[in-house]
Amino acid sequence: MTTTSTRARFTGRTALVTGAGGGIGRGIALAFAREGANVVVAGRRKEPLAKTVALIEGAGGKALAVTADVTSADDLRTLVRAAVDRFGSLDVAVNNAGVLTGRGRLTADLPEEDWRTMLDINVTGVLLALQAEVAQMRTQPDGGAIVNIASRIGVHSRLRGTTGYAVTKAAVSVLSRGAALDHIADGVRINAVSPGPTATDMSFKPGESETDRADRMRTEVPLGRVSTVEEIAAAVLYLASDDAASVVGTDLVVDGGSTA
Ligand SMILES: NC(=O)c1ccc[n+]([C@@H]2O[C@H](COP(=O)([O-])OP(=O)(O)OC[C@H]3O[C@@H](n4cnc5c(N)ncnc54)[C@H](OP(=O)(O)O)[C@@H]3O)[C@@H](O)[C@H]2O)c1
Repeated sequence: MTTTSTRARFTGRTALVTGAGGGIGRGIALAFAREGANVVVAGRRKEPLAKTVALIEGAGGKALAVTADVTSADDLRTLVRAAVDRFGSLDVAVNNAGVLTGRGRLTADLPEEDWRTMLDINVTGVLLALQAEVAQMRTQPDGGAIVNIASRIGVHSRLRGTTGYAVTKAAVSVLSRGAALDHIADGVRINAVSPGPTATDMSFKPGESETDRADRMRTEVPLGRVSTVEEIAAAVLYLASDDAASVVGTDLVVDGGSTA
């Protein structure tokens, strides 16, 4: 496959990415493909996943799309089975699917439905995915690596109106640490990445233009801009690679200095 990277750390390996129909997940899927991985992309909607697969295959890579809702343990078991049936193993999994709902609502006014939806997708979804992935990886001689996508908001939020989301992302960070300790003896290495504001739809406030967001980033982020999806993907690939063979249970913050 044509690549801008001189490295191919994942040749012959299989990488699964949830929420890979766009945004950060698609960026991560493309980055794994560029480094030689067979990529399995998952999400609820078919069409965006098909686009990610087309981008990978158009560049000479191999990919499989599987529709799956991360709140369904059955869907996740089927997803892992599909990855192994097609490519022979599951070496890397990135639990990236996540939502931010009820944005801007102060804690006392956050609708219960938004709270429950975020807990269900962002926290239970990561737990169930991890359980399906570890069940497969612990049977493999070379184990595997898992990277969960948390957020700098879970590390240190200075933003009002994001309590529910922040709680779920702090939970992803803690879940990643606990699971890392529990499963390193199984040969499964687990870490997290906490992105700051990143160039996807999620980093816009409702109705905000690109110029408004850029202005806001100049004051909100010490680096002065959003991170690119490629910058987040680079951190994920590092943690999933043998370069990080002794990195276990860390949360790598990639946020332009927002939490510094
Ligand atoms: N963008 C940022 O500034 C930022 C900062 C920090 C952390 N993050 C985190 O990074 C991750 C990706 O964010 P993003 O900006 O790329 O968001 P995005 O563009 O909204 O993508 C989220 C993806 O998750 C999928 N998804 C949502 N619910 C799902 C479910 N129940 N089952 C399976 N897939 C589901 C969506 O696809 P379907 O709708 O088709 O399912 C979508 O492809 C999220 O966990 C987010 O919290 C983002």
